[in-house]
Amino acid sequence: MAMTLRIEGYWLASGILGLAGSTLRRVIDAGADAVVTKSIGLEPRAGHPGPILTTSHGGLINAVGLSNPGIVAFSEEMRALADAPVPVVLSIFGRTADEIEEVAVHAVEYGPDGIELNLSCPHAEISQIAHSPDLTHTYVSRVRDVVKSPLLVKITPNASDPVAVGRAAEEAGADAVVAANTLRAMKIDIYQRRPVLGNKVGGLSGPPLFPVALRCVYDLYGALSIPIVGVGGVSCWQDAVEMHLAGASAIEIGTAVLTGLEIFQRVKQGVYAYLQEEGFSSVSEIIGVAWM
Ligand SMILES: Cc1cc2nc3c(=O)[nH]c(=O)nc-3n(C[C@H](O)[C@H](O)[C@H](O)COP(=O)(O)O)c2cc1C
Repeated sequence: MAMTLRIEGYWLASGILGLAGSTLRRVIDAGADAVVTKSIGLEPRAGHPGPILTTSHGGLINAVGLSNPGIVAFSEEMRALADAPVPVVLSIFGRTADEIEEVAVHAVEYGPDGIELNLSCPHAEISQIAHSPDLTHTYVSRVRDVVKSPLLVKITPNASDPVAVGRAAEEAGADAVVAANTLRAMKIDIYQRRPVLGNKVGGLSGPPLFPVALRCVYDLYGALSIPIVGVGGVSCWQDAVEMHLAGASAIEIGTAVLTGLEIFQRVKQGVYAYLQEEGFSSVSEIIGVAWM
């Protein structure tokens, strides 16, 4: 690890394939340009009771609840990724500013190529942080003080003003904003007449999230100077091109990875063919062009 993290290419989004370093390796072999780990907190955490995952309207609703082994035990998985040929971004969260700072101090010891702050899981108690520009500023500043490597801040489409939250992250020293996490959602079993998920409410991902994430990226691009990593519902090269046109420098892919790891190659080949056909020589020429 410890290579330069360039905000470009097609990355694995946080949490999709669980925790194991060996699984992330398979994604790297399949062509991901970087991988983001599951979000890790200070203590081991079991997560929400099942069911934790259901389908809806062509997407997924998950209420995993940030299950993870805690930052100390996670050293093992990070060791398995030590000689990864692409950047490894370690995603972290904390329930308080003190806690996230402590997690960050441990996290940098593992030498990740970047740190992604999850301030925005919609079905855990941290969900409120990225609703507030002030709280976001506090959390990002605390981590910035102890993290010299690239710092990415993941925000939520559930916030009433994602742009204000993105601005706060930028002012507090973030190197990039990741937009966005899942959208608060639920499903009800009509025969049991009860919510399907153990936690009742979860986060919507996959194709139905795409237009919402795209709008976040577009709005943020118009307001921020730091790069934006687009994430949410990207499942084909056309979606990736749209995300770039809205303003995304890099793109994370999550739910679509569950349909097959070849998604990374398919998206890349499609984007490059589009660029060639349309007379562009690189992705950088189309970033944010929908604004012009
Ligand atoms: C099962 C599952 C687990 C997730 N876990 C995390 C997580 O630990 N941390 C995080 O920041 N985002 C997590 N996410 C959100 C994704 O990283 C991503 O932001 C979201 O799913 C939207 O992208 P997609 O539509 O491409 O999946 C999770 C999503 C799913 C479906």
